[in-house]
Amino acid sequence: MTLAPSASSERTLVPAPMGRDAQIAAKILGEAGIEATVCCDLSHLIGELRREAGLALIVEEVLHDQDYGDLSRWIETQPAWSDFPIVILAQRGGGLERNPAAGRFSQVLGNVVFLERPFHPTTLVSVVQTALRGRRRQYEARERLETLRAAVERQKKDQTHLRLLINELNHRVKNTLATVQSIVTQTLRSGGAPLATRDTLTSRIVALSKAHDVLTDEQWSGADLAQIAAQAAQPFRMGLGEARISLKGPPVRVPPKTAIAVALALHELATNAVKYGALSTSEGWVDFSWDLAAGGDEPDELIATWRECGGPRVTPPTRAGFGTRLIERGLAADLNGEVSIAYPPDGVVCTIRARLDPDQDTEPLVVPPRTRSARRAVEPVSEGRPATA
Ligand SMILES: Nc1ncnc2c1ncn2[C@@H]1O[C@H](COP(=O)(O)OP(=O)(O)OP(=O)(O)O)[C@@H](O)[C@H]1O
Ligand SMILES: [Mg+2]
Repeated sequence: MTLAPSASSERTLVPAPMGRDAQIAAKILGEAGIEATVCCDLSHLIGELRREAGLALIVEEVLHDQDYGDLSRWIETQPAWSDFPIVILAQRGGGLERNPAAGRFSQVLGNVVFLERPFHPTTLVSVVQTALRGRRRQYEARERLETLRAAVERQKKDQTHLRLLINELNHRVKNTLATVQSIVTQTLRSGGAPLATRDTLTSRIVALSKAHDVLTDEQWSGADLAQIAAQAAQPFRMGLGEARISLKGPPVRVPPKTAIAVALALHELATNAVKYGALSTSEGWVDFSWDLAAGGDEPDELIATWRECGGPRVTPPTRAGFGTRLIERGLAADLNGEVSIAYPPDGVVCTIRARLDPDQDTEPLVVPPRTRSARRAVEPVSEGRPATA
């Protein structure tokens, strides 16, 4: 690929008819330091064009005597950057108005300039130099296009590489979580840890892994909040029935960090509800609902509420465990928002407010096709009963 104009790319091609005008023109150009290649006819000229040229200088009679169909096809199919200049040495008094053929040449040959004979040598040289200057601009455009094309190619390659890396990473994260779960379970079992502790730990790892699954399926471009909530509630709904945990809200796409944080928080809230709250009795239920508050110039705000009803009478706790700390501190920090847990007598209420910045990382990072059979979310290792904290 030649990017810089070479000597051949600036040649003036001059097809020589029977008369002497072409030779004279070529001689004048040569004396002005402009390389001219004399061609015996138009097909020779087209052959030379394939080796590149700056312009063609054609005596009008050549176009009358010879078939210029191939030349016009070459002009038609030239690349987007190219607008090959042609100078036609017109017959005396052959202005466009008196010479309909000249108008046709313009139409089929494109970038055409007419120079009426007899011409002054200086006029010819300046017309050719102007055409060459235009041609050089076209070469510059070609060079820029080539650079751009190479950059796009490079970027495509980089993206493919990145996708491969991310797919590999997803695969490894899943397997690592599975390994961690297995190590934890085996170690706690052989260390004689209580079943409840083993289950608590396992269920937390499973909750994390399932949130990763949703995000991997969505190519880490973010996730639908309803899907994240359903995934987190699913193990609890399975044991207690769908109606005991209602999930309600408009479609909201949340960035990956928010999705993971919300999934883990919901897991802790549901676990606590089973242990102490509305889901610890057969009558109680939970509503998890969310909505968006349009922020005008500010990012939209997500407001989500976990509300327990119909459970045992609640008394505010005197100690905070992992669940409270994860929700009140970890979640708030990850969401760049506020989280509060209230303990009114008729049921725990947890309110989450998070700003959803549209500029957050929501571009797809991985390609959907799964090239490897990555393991699905870590499945709970059954320890005899549903996980509770
Ligand atoms: N839904 C609820 N209803 C009534 N009381 C609750 C509820 N959730 C939490 N609590 C009270 O708040 C306390 C703190 O909860 P937290 O989740 O922080 O710790 P934990 O569940 O006791 O232990 P951990 O979460 O570390 O396994 C609980 O011990 C309980 O007294
Ligand atoms: Mg807890």
